[in-house]
Amino acid sequence: MNAHISFDPQAFRNALGSFTTGVTIITCRGDNGEAIGITANSFNSVSLNPPMVLWSLAKNARSLPAFSQSKHWNVHVLSAEQEELSGRFARQGEDKFSGLELDTGLSDAPLLKDCTARFQCRTAFQYEGGDHVIFVGEVLNFDHSNLAPLAFHSGKYALTASKPRGELRLSESTPLECSYTEDMFGYLLGRAHYQQLHALHRLLNRQQLSQNAFYVLSVLCIRDGLTVDELNSFISYTGHIVTEEAMQALEAQGMVARDKKGANTIWVLTALGRETSLEEIALAKSLDQDITDKLGSSDAKTFKVLLKRLISCTDPGLPDMWGPRG
Ligand SMILES: Cc1cc2nc3c(=O)[nH]c(=O)nc-3n(C[C@H](O)[C@H](O)[C@H](O)COP(=O)(O)O)c2cc1C
Repeated sequence: MNAHISFDPQAFRNALGSFTTGVTIITCRGDNGEAIGITANSFNSVSLNPPMVLWSLAKNARSLPAFSQSKHWNVHVLSAEQEELSGRFARQGEDKFSGLELDTGLSDAPLLKDCTARFQCRTAFQYEGGDHVIFVGEVLNFDHSNLAPLAFHSGKYALTASKPRGELRLSESTPLECSYTEDMFGYLLGRAHYQQLHALHRLLNRQQLSQNAFYVLSVLCIRDGLTVDELNSFISYTGHIVTEEAMQALEAQGMVARDKKGANTIWVLTALGRETSLEEIALAKSLDQDITDKLGSSDAKTFKVLLKRLISCTDPGLPDMWGPRG
């Protein structure tokens, strides 16, 4: 190529970054047997038969001589849990493999654990590609887990979510203008929440407990020995308020007992209260598993991350029940 078209490099990078990819770590052994690896998102499939893949390596990468001479390399498609590893293998000058356990592969190229997929390759071709070298490899072996993959989009790590064909509508009717719509967070979150609570309500009825009592037992199961004010600080986000009378009613049911902490009355779970709460937790866990099975583990993970972001961006400053005790 003689004539170079001159683009604004940043604009060109940004446009390329709009192509969403997975993230891989590619490894090989250097001349002296040292483990080499880099983070790369230029990985792609080439051919099914024979099975071939490609990726490209910057000519200024320190690992270029090792990859150029190596007969074998392994591609690791990273899982959503391996973001830290991606960062580590994208930085120069670190002992990238420190503390990592390796699997045994077909060649001596390092084989990392706990990935979404792995491809063990033999170098088939190397091509010039401007400021990169393109490596094409023949796949000798591969494996694949159901771990959610790590994605990369517009220069940031991302998670995948499957998209149903067309728009998902809950009802057929078109909403009136100026009315609530089924696309509003309030409606969607509320409806999902109440639908999910259906089975729990049936259990609470059997246990002869109110929803209020459920919140009290749940909080005490996580942090036992709280005053009514402390209980309320953890429960207030639900809109429910715990009163002394409500605690006395739970005491009469044998679920909680009172104790003293200085001048304050604190409430502790009785054995019956703990057993009752554990029954509720078991149900909550099985509902959680049910939803995960229906959404698929990858979408379930993505959804939980988004929910946590939503909770954090709408948090008016509530105390953290799972955080250190103040
Ligand atoms: C998500 C991501 C994708 C990357 N993809 C590539 C790539 O495809 N090719 C490449 O040469 N460098 C890529 N890099 C940069 C290298 O990982 C980085 O330059 C690394 O430090 C090179 O290591 P080395 O110089 O020790 O060989 C990527 C970095 C990140 C964070």
